[in-house]
Amino acid sequence: MTSSNIDFVYQDRIFEIKNPDPNEILLNYIRTKLKKIGSKNGCSEGGCGACTVVLGEIKNNEINYKAINSCITFLPTLQGKQLILVEDLISKNGSLHPVQQAMVNYHGSQCGICTPGFVMSLFSMFKKKSKFKDDEIRDSISGNLCRCTGYQPIIKAAKSLKNKNKIDHFTKNKKNIINLLKKINNKSVVIYNKGKKYFAPQYVHELKKILKKNIDANFLSGGTDLSLTVTKERKDIHSIIYMNSISELNYIKNNNKYIEVGASTPLIELESYIKKYYPDFTKILRRYGSPQIRNVATVAGNIATASPIGDCLPLLLSLNAQVVLQDLKKNRILFLDDFFISYRKTKLKKGQFISSIRIPILKGNILKSYKVSKRFDDDISSVCAAFNLEIVKNKFHSVTIAYGGMAAIPKRAIHCEKILSNSLVTDEIIHKAKKALERDFKPINDMRASGSYRMNIAKNLLEKCCAEIKQKKLIGIYF
Ligand SMILES: Cc1cc2nc3c(=O)[nH]c(=O)nc-3n(C[C@H](O)[C@H](O)[C@H](O)COP(=O)(O)OP(=O)(O)OC[C@H]3O[C@@H](n4cnc5c(N)ncnc54)[C@H](O)[C@@H]3O)c2cc1C
Ligand code: FES
Ligand code: FES
Repeated sequence: MTSSNIDFVYQDRIFEIKNPDPNEILLNYIRTKLKKIGSKNGCSEGGCGACTVVLGEIKNNEINYKAINSCITFLPTLQGKQLILVEDLISKNGSLHPVQQAMVNYHGSQCGICTPGFVMSLFSMFKKKSKFKDDEIRDSISGNLCRCTGYQPIIKAAKSLKNKNKIDHFTKNKKNIINLLKKINNKSVVIYNKGKKYFAPQYVHELKKILKKNIDANFLSGGTDLSLTVTKERKDIHSIIYMNSISELNYIKNNNKYIEVGASTPLIELESYIKKYYPDFTKILRRYGSPQIRNVATVAGNIATASPIGDCLPLLLSLNAQVVLQDLKKNRILFLDDFFISYRKTKLKKGQFISSIRIPILKGNILKSYKVSKRFDDDISSVCAAFNLEIVKNKFHSVTIAYGGMAAIPKRAIHCEKILSNSLVTDEIIHKAKKALERDFKPINDMRASGSYRMNIAKNLLEKCCAEIKQKKLIGIYF
């Protein structure tokens, strides 16, 4: 079924929006059309969390609750989902939700501008997690900034939730919401509005048909990059194909040789899946944006953006990952190393899309990775490094190293790799390998770091990696 209308569940009923503007931002709709002004606009770029709302989606006959940044979400992507706002947390008899009550009890709010966002992030944690461990609490609010209360009262409020009864009015009403969601979640969307087009196909074969007639359309996955064209650059996007409605592309598979990640799989799912294979991959993903970002952003989006500081990219390059491209007729598989051409340019051709990413499973190897940024959480890397090492009889056998933030594209350190491969880890070898990085990279100065600082970091991370290997502390340490 295809429709130009958007259906979503809000407050126990189905809402319909007729032919919305494809570029309309969800936060704008919430504040100006739904007239709910609890969600705030702090930055319009996903950085402060003041606009956080929660979406409910059916997964295995349950509702999966996800905190998202409504300031960088296109309204039409609401199709088939439940929208939960801070206004909806209070129950019909007027009692506060346990999360709200905890914030009151622990004085978690002063000026209040950030409070709705914090409440919604904690609400999402309350619905998803059972133990509320310290690191889960910190992670759940890592995408929310507060400039006057400070974080301790908010963290204390979150900790107090451990002992709360988890049966809230959302749990009691779950069956009803699932029934409503089932009624609306099986349609493709095609919108033509004021010269703008929006397509949300449900299947790859539909996507290909749309692509045939709309070769210049912009693919939209999580939108954590693309939406900023509208919210920050104030430009219109005239043609959008939404990829995350295609459930066929939302998967993680494993055939013992490689892990295959479908293009519309959110990073949050990869973060937990890949931990048992590559713990450092998970550690880097944990510092990737915030849960609001990782709940929607995809590896495919990260690869297609081709940003020199894309955090998945050094990891994927060092693991010799492959990217599976599809066009109307055929599939093409490229090593990621051959995919990036120059600053934000890739081998992706018009009419071609990324359908999956293959990450080799290298059982005997050690993957170590480090991200250096000004702030621990929700910050872009100054330098990100990934070292994939095979150690045989106390020697580095094969070595694959990649860095982000050191060149116009995320890039392998070929000269450095050559020095280390088939070598014992001696101080002299490490010194030579560090020196070789100067041949591999000529990093630039920008607002995040100077070129010389970047080079120093790159060398120090290499030394740190080798030191940890030598001491057999095979777990990455972050700073
Ligand atoms: C607050 C904030 C924090 C962030 N933090 C980080 C961070 O810590 N590390 C980091 O690396 N990045 C970060 N980013 C950048 C962004 O989240 C990533 O680049 C993300 O991976 C993009 O994925 P997406 O699914 O949201 O892509 P989208 O925004 O949907 O798309 C990005 C680009 O990829 C194209 N595209 C998307 N899917 C496909 C496909 N299947 N085939 C072909 N082309 C496609 C789109 O057309 C677009 O050009 C952050 C962004 C924000 C707003
Ligand atoms: S308004 Fe700052 S994250 Fe949305
Ligand atoms: S209470 Fe004022 S910014 Fe958080």
